[in-house]
Amino acid sequence: MERITKVYGARLALENFHLLIEASECVALLGPNGAGKTTALHVLCGFVRPTGGKVYILGVDLEQNPRLAKASLGVAPQADSLDTELGVLENLVTYASYYGIPRKQAHSSALEWLEFLGLKPYAKEPIDALSGGMRRRLLIARALVHNPKVLILDEPTTGLDPFSRRDVWEAVSRIKALGVCILLTTHYLEEANILADRAIILDKGRKIAEGSPETLVTHYTGELVIELVAPKGRIKELFDGVPLPKGQKEIVADTLRLYLKEGLKDGLKGWLEGLKSVRVLKREPTLEDVYFKLLGNGQ
Ligand SMILES: Nc1ncnc2c1ncn2[C@@H]1O[C@H](COP(=O)(O)OP(=O)(O)OP(=O)(O)O)[C@@H](O)[C@H]1O
Ligand SMILES: [Mg+2]
Repeated sequence: MERITKVYGARLALENFHLLIEASECVALLGPNGAGKTTALHVLCGFVRPTGGKVYILGVDLEQNPRLAKASLGVAPQADSLDTELGVLENLVTYASYYGIPRKQAHSSALEWLEFLGLKPYAKEPIDALSGGMRRRLLIARALVHNPKVLILDEPTTGLDPFSRRDVWEAVSRIKALGVCILLTTHYLEEANILADRAIILDKGRKIAEGSPETLVTHYTGELVIELVAPKGRIKELFDGVPLPKGQKEIVADTLRLYLKEGLKDGLKGWLEGLKSVRVLKREPTLEDVYFKLLGNGQ
């Protein structure tokens, strides 16, 4: 995608967005509600026309040759769009027919993908017999039934229990290992950390950070995070009192997070030791810290 801009009425949903995904790469789009993640995916899939910019899928211009371009894309949308009138296998076979795949071939491809995603025993079941996690895996199977090279997953694990979420992660990793490149959106930073080779953080339609999860963590947070847990009324006082510059401290709910570039230095150590009735937790930084640091209250 090159220099994509999308404007809805007076609202700028995506601004000058550029994305090149390599083969076998998994890219995660992160950002708060309304940041433009789904818009980016919709433009890429040809669901909405960009106000400006160009989309190429495996070198094919989406605008000039939409059918050919879309044949390389598999999409599992944010909203569950399975057809509850049809059974599990039939959902996939019908979907494959939209890509002009002959029924027999569609049938065997559908069974293969059901097997791959652990759903083969349910092939003849109605959609309503599936749990939320299975439905999500079925959406992914449906997106793959025409064997696309690029898989788009919009919030693939939202609303799933922790076990089902892990099942989806495991499936996505295996799909990636097949050489399919994946673009996903998620609000789960652990998910991005586990699955993504590259994460992109969007805010108000703009890319504000990009890199591998490890690079982002090192670049934005440093090597150590200290969390101070104190009664609510005391957090602001602690925030003002901590001997650190603005970009290195953040209030997240009832905790004060301190981001230390090079471990614990003397001045801060003394200050921490002088604190009373405050719980002090030391830990390694994560992608979540990057997210809060870039999008949080940043006082
Ligand atoms: N069809 C539309 N018509 C008008 N405005 C839209 C439309 N789709 C999205 N928007 C607006 O564009 C902006 C980006 O929305 P988008 O759905 O891309 O965000 P998102 O990052 O996917 O959010 P979420 O995490 O809630 O899914 C928002 O301000 C949204 O209100
Ligand atoms: Mg969205």
